[in-house]
Amino acid sequence: MKNCISVKEILITSTEIDKRVTEIANQITADYKDSSPLIIGVLKGAWIFMADMVRKIELDVDVDFICVSSYGGGTSTSGQITLLKDITTDCSGRDVIVVEDIIDSGTTLMYLREMLLERNAASVNIATLLSKPSRRVVDIDVKYIGFEVPDKFVVGYGMDYKERFRTLQDICVLKEEVYKKK
Ligand code: IMP
Ligand code: MG
Repeated sequence: MKNCISVKEILITSTEIDKRVTEIANQITADYKDSSPLIIGVLKGAWIFMADMVRKIELDVDVDFICVSSYGGGTSTSGQITLLKDITTDCSGRDVIVVEDIIDSGTTLMYLREMLLERNAASVNIATLLSKPSRRVVDIDVKYIGFEVPDKFVVGYGMDYKERFRTLQDICVLKEEVYKKK
């Protein structure tokens, strides 16, 4: 495996991810059968989950991407959200699904949901691959959750630590010494 020297533990394998992504996509296909939702991926962490999931959703969907920053390159949120790249699609009157890699404190998704509702989206639901419930700071309703994970910093399947490890196929925890390095 790529970068395997840095990996301490595989938390979720690519086979388990694929099975769960299929289940969520089937659920979305059923829930939105009378709609053509606008699916917004949160860059960069959600890109692989988004790409895999949209291809399994059997609906006529539109896709767009947004990029926000709340982490200053470390392992915990700064609490301050900056919009780095906006969507280019008009979301007014649309059923929107925001696709995230992981919900930690919940501040990023709270910010995005409020912004999209202010822009008159007809509905805003959230699909996240991972959730760390023990870290939640804001109370946010999440309709689709892939897996609940413990309070460990994870990488792979799109998620990074200081921009590394995004292309690992499994979701992994790194060795302590990697997080300590500058
Ligand atoms: P929140 O605003 O605290 O919920 O932070 C959510 C964002 O933080 C996610 O979209 C991720 O980009 C990032 N994040 C939180 N936990 C992790 C992790 O364990 N690994 C990688 N990124 C994470
Ligand atoms: Mg993210």
